This record gives sequence, C-alpha cells and structure tokens, in this order.
Amino acid sequence: MNAPIIALDLPSMRSVETFLTRFGKQKLALKVGMQLFYKEGPPIIEKLKLAGHWIFLDLKLHDIPNTVKEAMKSLAALEVDMVNVHAAGGKRMMEAALEGLEAGLARGMTRPLCIAVTQLTSTSENMLKEELLIDEGIEQTVLHYAKLTNESGLDGIVCSSLETPFIKENIHDFITVTPGIRLTGDERDDQTRIVTPEKAKQLGSDYIVVGRSVTKSKNPLEAYERVELEWKK
Ligand code: C5P
Repeated sequence: MNAPIIALDLPSMRSVETFLTRFGKQKLALKVGMQLFYKEGPPIIEKLKLAGHWIFLDLKLHDIPNTVKEAMKSLAALEVDMVNVHAAGGKRMMEAALEGLEAGLARGMTRPLCIAVTQLTSTSENMLKEELLIDEGIEQTVLHYAKLTNESGLDGIVCSSLETPFIKENIHDFITVTPGIRLTGDERDDQTRIVTPEKAKQLGSDYIVVGRSVTKSKNPLEAYERVELEWKK
C-alpha cells in the first residue's frame, strides 16, 4: 500500500523543515508543487531525497514536445519518483515527456512514474463550453484525455476519487492519483468534491494526495496518522 502523499503547499525550505520536524526520521511521500519548486529550486528536492522521502514533483508540464522532452531530462536527473504533464498537450507531447525521462535517467535508476492532469478540478462544465469551446461534458472529456494518456504510454492520471471507478472501468492497469481528501469534520476549503481517505480507498484510488487536512492541522502528525490509518484499513 502506498503512503498518503502530503502536499507541501508551503512557501519555503524553512517552513518545510519546520513542518517535517514533527515527523522525526519517518520516511514520507511528499508532493512538491510550483510554489515551493520555483522558490527553492532543485536543492529542495536533493535535500528531501537525501532524507529518504518519496517525491512527487507536481509541475504539470505543458509545452511543445521538444521543450517538454528536454525539461523532463532535467527532472529525471533529480531522481524524483513521480512527475506530471497536462494531457491537453497532446499525444506527441506526452510521448516526448517519456522519452525525456528515459534519456535523463542515471544508469541503473528506474523511470519516475509519469501521470497526466486531464481537466483541472477548478474547471467547470460552463468554463469548458464558454471559454474552451469544448462541447462534451466534464466526465466525457476526462475519459477522453485519460484514454489519450494511456495510449501515449503514461502511467495514469490525477483525478477526483469520485471519478476513479469510472476511469478504472474503462482503462485497465492505469494509476489514479487523487487529491480532494479530507478527514471527517475538516474544512473543505476550496475543494468541491471531497472524500475521506477510507472512501478514496474503497473507490479504488492508487495514491491519495492530502494537503491542508495535515499541513493546516493543529497537530499535523496526529492528522497524518489518522489519514494513514484510514488509508491502510
Ligand atoms: O490542501 P488540499 O488537500 O486541498 O491540497 C490538494 C493538493 O492537490 C494541492 O497541492 C492541489 O494543488 C493539488 N491538486 C488538486 N486538484 C487537482 C490537481 C492537483 O487539488 N486536480
């Protein structure tokens, strides 16, 4: 069973260090996103890897195939465990992402998992139609992008836990990584469709991403242990 991935949506290396002191020497699964990576750069990844943590570098690449390929070469050299792209970049771009990852790997290292964002959870049905001129509904669009991701050879997608059964019914051997996780009684914040870690597991998620339920808790270690307990049930 994979450990819950803690979203380190924190402003600096210092704030991350303070946060992690609560966990002692425990090896964790951590997600580093744009906020932290653009502030601290590769040294923060090196530091977290050195401490033995598993890292999902969430930079959601989306550019022309050659640029994504070269960028992925650089990310592979950081020896992270999971990276991602936007499926909207298309099949050729996603294939190029994998080529870059393979090309950038140090000898003997295994390729990081590479997943795609189908539609951001902030995208509404109305936005799809009015702003992006996409007439299909959210569910059909997510499935179409997921199939494209699978055909491109990537390992899976980021999606809501509530979409997981639908995705798994249609695509086999395909990972779902699901944010929008809250412990019972927590604030939902800006997430609209939330589930508990236990529910996410029942729905078939392969990995869960938990941010504020842990990072904003008065007792992050206790909150994390509650998430872990439900997830491993
Ligand atoms: O604090 P919270 O648990 O809502 O954090 C969820 C994390 O997952 C954030 O880092 C957010 O950017 C990320 N995420 C998401 N929905 C997506 C993709 C990523 O919430 N579709």
